[in-house]
Amino acid sequence: MMQTFLRDVHDGLSADPKTLPSRYFYDKKGDALFVEIMALDEYYLTSAELEIFSKKTAALAEALGVSKDKPFELAELGAGDGKKTKHLLRYLCDDGYDFAYVPIDISQNALDGLACSLSAEMPSLRIKPLQGDYFDVLTQLKTSDAPKVVLFLGSNIGNMPDARASRFARELSKTLTEGDRFLLGVDLIKDASVVLPAYDDGEGVTKAFNLNLLERINRELGGNFDITLFEHVVTYTKAEGIVRSYLRSKVDQTVTIAENGESYDFKAGESIHTEISRKYDDKLIGEIFADTPFSLKQKLTDANGYFADYIFVKG
Ligand SMILES: C[S@@+](CC[C@H](N)C(=O)[O-])C[C@H]1O[C@@H](n2cnc3c(N)ncnc32)[C@H](O)[C@@H]1O
Repeated sequence: MMQTFLRDVHDGLSADPKTLPSRYFYDKKGDALFVEIMALDEYYLTSAELEIFSKKTAALAEALGVSKDKPFELAELGAGDGKKTKHLLRYLCDDGYDFAYVPIDISQNALDGLACSLSAEMPSLRIKPLQGDYFDVLTQLKTSDAPKVVLFLGSNIGNMPDARASRFARELSKTLTEGDRFLLGVDLIKDASVVLPAYDDGEGVTKAFNLNLLERINRELGGNFDITLFEHVVTYTKAEGIVRSYLRSKVDQTVTIAENGESYDFKAGESIHTEISRKYDDKLIGEIFADTPFSLKQKLTDANGYFADYIFVKG
């Protein structure tokens, strides 16, 4: 893991323009900061999808196309703290469905917390956590013959460029059988006045989350980033529908990483691109899924129309 992290950091900081992969946001501190982000008033994504999961639970369960007579697996990619999913899990448990919940996450810390809270809150629920990157762990899903439903919530797919999202959907479909379902939660395109504060909040939690990437390099790879010399920068236009997050160097500086003995020069104003967060509409979703074996069954939205859960079936 550390060698992969070191290689990815070296490749990203040696590139022009500089980048760092967003999956490294989630260490113990990053997980905790993300839980704080989800509780922010500005971060409408969680409350909007939570509204769908808590107020439209029966419609969601129905859209999954599962039967009480046949055991199934409910897998979740990037499960995090499972706050929204718990509404669906509780509904399915109470309604007598026979299923196992398979949360998949790159963060062992997030999985441990989720397993612990679920065993206290829903003792009868069968849980089979899988740790790792979505792409690597997906193949392990193939091992059982049970019908499957895969959840991918929180607009996490928005961290992928569109071509990669299409590839991801095709890869996912290979692990599924005809009739299996895929529930995808995405943030919808809307005005910058609503979107931008979700990624640059008044309390500075999103800023701390972005800067934690540099702190993680310091902690795990012996970097000497001075985080006071970098600023959190976020851009978005409704026309493009993509939030871009950066860490911008305030001064000319050189940073070294002890673990590989390399140094990296920054000019004042030079940025490291750390994340994209794509926003969607029906047309974009149609284009991304056009070349995949998935067909759209249903779409559920919150009352403001900020967020949508699209349910696909593998046909
Ligand atoms: C933004 S949180 C969202 C959590 C939850 N899905 C939700 O909607 O509230 C993203 C979660 O995905 C996990 N994650 C991020 N990149 C991942 C990857 N490449 N593979 C597996 N998990 C990943 C993180 O550890 C984190 O728990």
